[in-house]
Amino acid sequence: MADVPPGVKGMNDVLPPDVSKWQFLEEKARGVLEAFAYRELRTPVLEYTPLFVRSVGEVTDVVEKQMYTFDDRDGRSVSLRPEGTASAVRAYIENAQWNREPVTRWYYFGPMFRHERAQRGRLRQFHQIGAEWFGVNEPSGDAETIAMLTLMIEEIGIPAAALEVSLNSLGEPEERAAYREALVAFYRGHLEVLDEEARRRLETNPLRILDSKNPDIVALNANAPVLLETLSPGSQARFARVRELLAALGVRHTLDQRLVRGLDYYTATIFEIKTTAGELGAQNTICGGGRYDGLVASLGGPKTPAIGFALGVERTLLALTQPAESYERPVNAFFVSMDADSLAYALPLAHRLRAAGISVEIEHRGGKVGTQLKRADKLRARVAVIIGGNEVASGNLTVKDLAKSTQFTVAAADLESKIRQLLD
Ligand code: HAM
Repeated sequence: MADVPPGVKGMNDVLPPDVSKWQFLEEKARGVLEAFAYRELRTPVLEYTPLFVRSVGEVTDVVEKQMYTFDDRDGRSVSLRPEGTASAVRAYIENAQWNREPVTRWYYFGPMFRHERAQRGRLRQFHQIGAEWFGVNEPSGDAETIAMLTLMIEEIGIPAAALEVSLNSLGEPEERAAYREALVAFYRGHLEVLDEEARRRLETNPLRILDSKNPDIVALNANAPVLLETLSPGSQARFARVRELLAALGVRHTLDQRLVRGLDYYTATIFEIKTTAGELGAQNTICGGGRYDGLVASLGGPKTPAIGFALGVERTLLALTQPAESYERPVNAFFVSMDADSLAYALPLAHRLRAAGISVEIEHRGGKVGTQLKRADKLRARVAVIIGGNEVASGNLTVKDLAKSTQFTVAAADLESKIRQLLD
């Protein structure tokens, strides 16, 4: 093996043709997001660490165990972003976005970093398409957000029938705090069942015990108090309204009373989408999100309701089973050139076609016509233009329709229109 230092574990290159699948997904997602009047936000991948500690939460797995955190050369602690919401909120506050518009809809694409145990569908550098919507707290906003998300996933090519949309409500912060007390009291009555991790969480983040995979705790959780049932009538009514509006939008969904989400900033409606499509295995949650009505204020901005989600790109791609090649755009024309003179003649012709938006590969290395045409085939070129001594002398080119195996003699001046005709 070569002794090149390897790429970092859990961080992948994306090569053609796979990259076409990414581009397809990004294009579809962008189309839907812009149809809902979202605009793109770009933020740095590095932030000062306290941003994540104060938003995602100090005692979450993400902050405690997964962040790439280090001191920069000025001695300040920075972290590679593990998610995009915190940065969006920081940008919202630092730019006093509320002075520019009362309602802001932002979306972002980009890499996120979490030092997790790498496995299928779980990476250390992964990508998200996220959306954040500030300034609206009506239940209709929640329904619209989830409906947009399902539309986006369907446009990408995962059918609605292969989606499981789960919803829950965390209520208001005070309600969640009261529930937390009830939960702690419940678990204290069953301390013998709790493992070390759960005991630690009992002190720091008891709601996360509901997520435990330990079979004994899973069994215990069946009798734990249910958050939704402890919420005020107002919170329950709001949540019921979200579900009604969502049903009216035609989005099939289920209530998952155990859903809590792993990040601390959530309030009221939270949701996740799993898919049964493709080859996801255990990591089949392709996106998650919810309201975070308290986060802007807690980071120093004005009280601002907000809702958002992020779709995991790699996981979503695993759900698409068509071969990557089928997403790739073929090259339109391939220029076969026989020698240095024909290459010099072909180059400006190819350049004009390229400038006119026709994709062209041109063989600079010469070689046998047959070998060159094999490359044309491999690139799935529709048209081959053959240029040798005779063509240069006469100004009449040989054009082959590679799909139909027909051949034409075309004057150089008519090349573009002939190619367009063949491509149609
Ligand atoms: P999250 O649930 O932590 O939420 O991540 C969203 C999605 O990112 C997951 O459903 C999953 O598809 C993908 N993902 C997360 N970790 C990994 C990983 N290690 N490897 C591959 N994919 C992964 C958030 O990040 C919130 N910021 C979403 C949000 C936006 N909530 C409100 N606004």
